[in-house]
Amino acid sequence: MKREILIDCDPGIDDTIALMMAFKDPSIEVIALTTVFGNASVEITTHNALILNDYFKFNVPVYKGAAIPLFHPRKYQSIVHGPNGMGNVDFPAPTSKVSPKYAWDAIYDEAKKRGKTLTVLTLGPLTNVAIAILRYEDLKEYVKEIIIMGGSATKGNAKPFGESNVVNDPYAMQVILNSQIPVTMVGLNATETTRMTEEEHKQIFADASKIDPLIVKMLTHYKGVQGMYGDNGMVIHDAATMAVVLHPEWATSRLLHVDVETIQNSMYGRTIVDIRKHSKLIKNCTVVETIERAPYLKHLEKTLKEN
Ligand code: RIB
Ligand code: CA
Repeated sequence: MKREILIDCDPGIDDTIALMMAFKDPSIEVIALTTVFGNASVEITTHNALILNDYFKFNVPVYKGAAIPLFHPRKYQSIVHGPNGMGNVDFPAPTSKVSPKYAWDAIYDEAKKRGKTLTVLTLGPLTNVAIAILRYEDLKEYVKEIIIMGGSATKGNAKPFGESNVVNDPYAMQVILNSQIPVTMVGLNATETTRMTEEEHKQIFADASKIDPLIVKMLTHYKGVQGMYGDNGMVIHDAATMAVVLHPEWATSRLLHVDVETIQNSMYGRTIVDIRKHSKLIKNCTVVETIERAPYLKHLEKTLKEN
């Protein structure tokens, strides 16, 4: 039986590659996409999800979600993905329409009708899933697991220690960590282990004619921004996370206690990962630590070239 997955996302350049990867994989069934603010406003990320749904013929329902975080005023606008959230690349306008239900209701309904087989994967801020948990007390009876691209056991990106998806709504992360639903965190510490070198990038893109030109353009923008931030090569965070979902055998992880800073100071949005051996705190999160580079990069190249 195929694994059933609902993907909550904020497309998003790396979200796009992650979705391409997911929909090509015969071992999973993507049930729906839910959208959230993040890389752009929720209006834009929803429009982008519809674009991708049509362009790549995903043919799944798209449900719109939160426009703002649970609590704090929204301060962090991503410049990584450009004003249209897709690296300024213009895809054909979508014809499919958003489905008439809020993201959090769709998460609940899809989980409940299956009975603990649904994986909820988040590739953006965690607000929709947190709202579903707060709105439906019994959600924990129905969701198999939540896998998060977000947080970090080491450095951040939006802030020195804060990763963008969690910094965008730390309270939502806190709700999820306390939800009693099994949670796996694929943070920057893990996705960074898949960063391709300049050499590997050259190899993958040497024959760029095999890759959709719009995707090439989008990833050129994405790599350019990473370079502007002083990083060599390229890491595609959401795609690396999707690879962990599809191939958990490529990842190493540990069940640990994780907390998140919600006080508005310089650590705001930092995920605190307790690696102390003698820690007595509740181990509430599986923290991915490494992802095998070679099979991941091969898989990524296949995803890009076989669409
Ligand atoms: O920090 C990386 C994450 O933030 C990715 O999900 C990216 O798409 C942005 O949402
Ligand atoms: Ca994302």
